[in-house]
Amino acid sequence: MRPPLVRLELRSVSKTYVDANQPVEVLHDISLTAEPGSITALVGRSGCGKTTLLNLAGAMDFPTSGEVLIDGRSTGSLNDRELTALRRTRVGFVFQFFQLLPTLTVLENVELPLLLAGAAGSAETSRDRLRWVELEDKAASLPHQLSGGQMQRVAIARALAHSPDILIADEPTGNLDTASGDQVLELLRDAARNFGSTVLIATHSAEAASIAGTRVQLRDGRIQSIDRA
Ligand SMILES: Nc1ncnc2c1ncn2[C@@H]1O[C@H](COP(=O)(O)OP(=O)(O)OP(=O)(O)O)[C@@H](O)[C@H]1O
Ligand SMILES: [Mg+2]
Repeated sequence: MRPPLVRLELRSVSKTYVDANQPVEVLHDISLTAEPGSITALVGRSGCGKTTLLNLAGAMDFPTSGEVLIDGRSTGSLNDRELTALRRTRVGFVFQFFQLLPTLTVLENVELPLLLAGAAGSAETSRDRLRWVELEDKAASLPHQLSGGQMQRVAIARALAHSPDILIADEPTGNLDTASGDQVLELLRDAARNFGSTVLIATHSAEAASIAGTRVQLRDGRIQSIDRA
């Protein structure tokens, strides 16, 4: 049998920001791999580098040293056109504060990434995703007419609109009550299981971390431990 595809690999990644002209290393020598269909949770206290790591993994930013490999290709080696294509077709992001566009309807929010990627059949796919998050009846609503939990489900529908191989969620349940949070976690699980997405979550919630097969404890920008369920 072939070994499973390593979809996402961080190889000895470090990240230094320059703050008030001083370099500050916020990630140090991080090595990680994540396969299709797996869920990895990044845990650790505020400021330990979780969001920074997610941005590197989603090719929104680049390491100062080391490499982030998606299907074996280093994000730092891609040209602008390749990077745009990667971000639009391979990666989906879900944020703590949902980040829906307030003047677009629910359906339009979900459809937007498909339109940007020039995908065919975008309206139908968007409806399909809304059905999946059980919000088809809210298609014509504006985001402010939804509850927080509903907004996050729309954000998940949007992140998965283009069937991304990598789904990145930064504190996806941070602003939700337990019941809404559970629904969101179930959708993330479903994304890994049914879409085969490689899911990467940053979270403070033990419950959110519990859906992950791999838990990475970060401390001051370093990996303290990796636990596999
Ligand atoms: N653009 C930036 N420029 C300079 N420093 C930054 C920048 N972004 C983040 N940092 C610093 O990097 C460190 C890690 O930040 P990061 O946002 O990755 O932490 P986090 O683990 O996601 O925290 P939280 O749990 O609060 O979201 C922090 O000390 C932060 O101040
Ligand atoms: Mg963060």
